[in-house]
Amino acid sequence: MPLPALLFEVFTLFPEVFEPYLQSSILQRAHQRGLVEINLYNIRDWTSDRHHITDDEPYGGGGGMVMKPEPIFAAVEGVLGSPPACPVILLTPQGRTFTQSVAHELAFGNDASVPDQTRRLALLCGRYEGVDERVRQHLVSDQISIGDYVLTGGELAALVVIDATARWIPGVLGDPDGVLDDSHASGLLEYPHYTRPAEFRGWSVPEILLSGDHGRIARWRREQSLLRTWQRRPDLLETAPLSKLDRKFLDQLRTSLDSIKTDGSSKMPGSGEPPKPPDTP
Ligand code: 6GU
Repeated sequence: MPLPALLFEVFTLFPEVFEPYLQSSILQRAHQRGLVEINLYNIRDWTSDRHHITDDEPYGGGGGMVMKPEPIFAAVEGVLGSPPACPVILLTPQGRTFTQSVAHELAFGNDASVPDQTRRLALLCGRYEGVDERVRQHLVSDQISIGDYVLTGGELAALVVIDATARWIPGVLGDPDGVLDDSHASGLLEYPHYTRPAEFRGWSVPEILLSGDHGRIARWRREQSLLRTWQRRPDLLETAPLSKLDRKFLDQLRTSLDSIKTDGSSKMPGSGEPPKPPDTP
């Protein structure tokens, strides 16, 4: 078996919650192909007291429990050495927000200069109200959140990070270009997809997709991506790489919206429907 491209070392109090997902998704196939390896470590195995205690009351009072530092340091340093031989990422709502580009960064590093070597990443799943601050300060090298809401623990977030990161590794997806087509890979939302039948309950697949004209189909898809992004996630248009033709199309959308506002007409490029104005966040 060749070295895996990606190796996750996961530290958690609940290793059992990872197994079913890892065994039923395409991550299972990635693992069988030797592309991605995931080791699970139960932090409780590094406790030294009779009751295997991993949490305690917060100094200063207040509700909730805090994960004790000793078992976390013992587990992470026991597996990775001291200092740890790879980045140690704490999953916490206080971390930087996880995005498709953070997933790319985790998969390949900030410089993609050392391919053919295993990228090893440690994920530390916080639970309860948090982990002792000294873990953050002296053990952890990065902190990631998967969004602005609170989960009861970092386990689901770790699965999200593992899944989105592994998808970047060549060979993990059946379609080698899959990850490039994804929503967000281009900086835009994805265009609409259709499959057979061509008509379902009277709802037809757009004629152009049946035309066989690959040039026009590609342009239509691009315009649909732009339209959707403009309607639903206009913030993404600020940073997405756009061609001259893209900009022209967006200008037409804006102009047609202005004309609806002023004369009530609903002609617009790229779709049979009137545009919905973008939500203002
Ligand atoms: Cl990484 N952990 C927890 N507990 N809640 C979260 C999260 C992480 N990301 C979003 N919410």
